[in-house]
Amino acid sequence: MLSIEQVSVSSKNKKIVDSVSLSLHKGDWYALVGQSGSGKTLLSQAIGQMLPPNLQANGKILFHDIDLLTAPPKQMRTLRGQKISYIFQDYQGSFTPFRTIGQHFEEYQKVHGISDSKARKSNAFHALESVGLDTSLYRRYPFQLSGGQLQRVSIAMALLLSPDLIIADEITTALDSVSGHKILELLSLKQKETGFAILFITHDWRHVKRNANRLAVMKDGKIIESGEKDHILHDPKHEYTKQLIKAAPTLDAMQRMYRR
Ligand SMILES: Nc1ncnc2c1ncn2[C@@H]1O[C@H](COP(=O)(O)OP(=O)(O)OP(=O)(O)O)[C@@H](O)[C@H]1O
Ligand SMILES: [Mg+2]
Repeated sequence: MLSIEQVSVSSKNKKIVDSVSLSLHKGDWYALVGQSGSGKTLLSQAIGQMLPPNLQANGKILFHDIDLLTAPPKQMRTLRGQKISYIFQDYQGSFTPFRTIGQHFEEYQKVHGISDSKARKSNAFHALESVGLDTSLYRRYPFQLSGGQLQRVSIAMALLLSPDLIIADEITTALDSVSGHKILELLSLKQKETGFAILFITHDWRHVKRNANRLAVMKDGKIIESGEKDHILHDPKHEYTKQLIKAAPTLDAMQRMYRR
């Protein structure tokens, strides 16, 4: 469904993402891992024409035969939300502090052309319930919710219009490990229910191990290794990948640490 073909992201004088290719199929949990600054976020922003204005993407990003790099902005605005949704690490930044959760749902649906106000409200209630939240949160303000609850609301909104592709950038980093774990369980459950593909950007090999079926490792703007997760975990080819796997705490070690 998504084919990234030799995509580069450059500033005026520097190539930051360098000729990256990867493809996602329906139902994939595709992990993108790699060192800080390797270009993971910029690559994911290029998919939705969300790059900072001083950066330029080249190459091809085909999504159901539409080239996302050259699609007109109006078409992209429709695609984002309806077909491609983002969930970010900085979930707090996605909410306006003085507007209730309900108002956020209202605005999101109005932008995407849902004109029946009864339908909007019932969609919002249903969305909250579908991520395990009480509908009373509809009337609350973002600061009245915990981090885990807010990230659940972000997921509810991202899934609201049944997109084919979810782009999740370090979505558990700002949460404590229990909330993070629950968020991933939720996302995994939703994926089984609806079959979207997910591009999952993470530093955490535990999440790669548990959830991904395929993965790519980025270093210095390039993909140095990609393929089936089981293949790469058992037989990493690149020295950097070997180091990443070795450095990751094992599940057993993590559990022992939490028990202490
Ligand atoms: N608007 C910009 N202009 C110029 N350089 C930028 C811009 N945004 C990011 N960069 C640089 O591009 C590189 C890649 O950034 P990116 O945010 O994609 O890294 P990342 O792999 O997501 O890192 P992290 O794991 O820390 O989130 C970094 O060196 C970053 O400083
Ligand atoms: Mg990043």
